[in-house]
Amino acid sequence: MDTDRERYLKQQIELGGAEVILTRPLGEVMRASPIDRPVSAPAPDPSAPGPAEEMRLPKWKQGAPPIPGPGLMVAPPVPSLLEGGSTAGESLESIQETVRGCTRCFLHQGRTNTVPGEGNSKARLMFVGEGPGQTEDQTGRPFVGRAGELLTGIISAIDLRREDVFIANVVKCRPPQNRKPLPDEMAACYPYLQRQIELIRPAVLVALGATAAEALLASRRGLGELRGKVHSYHGIPLIVTYHPAALLRNPNWKKPTWDDIRIARQLLDR
Ligand code: URA
Ligand code: URA
Repeated sequence: MDTDRERYLKQQIELGGAEVILTRPLGEVMRASPIDRPVSAPAPDPSAPGPAEEMRLPKWKQGAPPIPGPGLMVAPPVPSLLEGGSTAGESLESIQETVRGCTRCFLHQGRTNTVPGEGNSKARLMFVGEGPGQTEDQTGRPFVGRAGELLTGIISAIDLRREDVFIANVVKCRPPQNRKPLPDEMAACYPYLQRQIELIRPAVLVALGATAAEALLASRRGLGELRGKVHSYHGIPLIVTYHPAALLRNPNWKKPTWDDIRIARQLLDR
């Protein structure tokens, strides 16, 4: 029956990995084979907006998908992480300073500037990308190249400004030729990201692409498996979506990304 789910849970056990909560989202159940579908039409959802109300909704909310069910859970909640005493700084500024002098991995040799991340220190929404590209390395700012312009557009499409959110990356120095950061580079840099998240305590996290998802969820699963669920990063709801650079290569991913982002936006209002 539930072979995907069984395989998934078995894999988790084999990996000895993070605790997992996996429920099938209702939408997935409804998309099951036609024979499983109820014969009669479902009762109308009284909380669903009617046509007139739909018109008054902010644009991003019109036709937005419902908030999906839970996915992976990275425990424990953030407060005990704080007690665990991660090392990378007492404030965002001190993290920035530490990163500036960081030589924990090979990537420091090739950098022009470190790119610690930027934005609102009290942001309720925080984005995590992979690592600086060329423009970011030259400017010391995250997501300022072509992918960055796309991200800025996505942020304003959900009625927020770049200054409202916080934008960080898994690694703070540019990998050569923009290659994917290596596992030891991600591990070396991870305490900085973890501490940034602890200090900002966003209400919602968005992992942009598989590398960010891998770092935050300690999981190598692909985006196909990770999208469409509300994961939990030490108690903070986490949405996984495509990386903006991937959207530049494949515009077919814009629609699913837009759906993911609107789910994240709805979680902010919850
Ligand atoms: N891609 C990323 O992952 N991060 C940036 O900051 C820019 C491009
Ligand atoms: N609007 C869209 O339709 N898609 C995006 O990715 C951003 C804004």
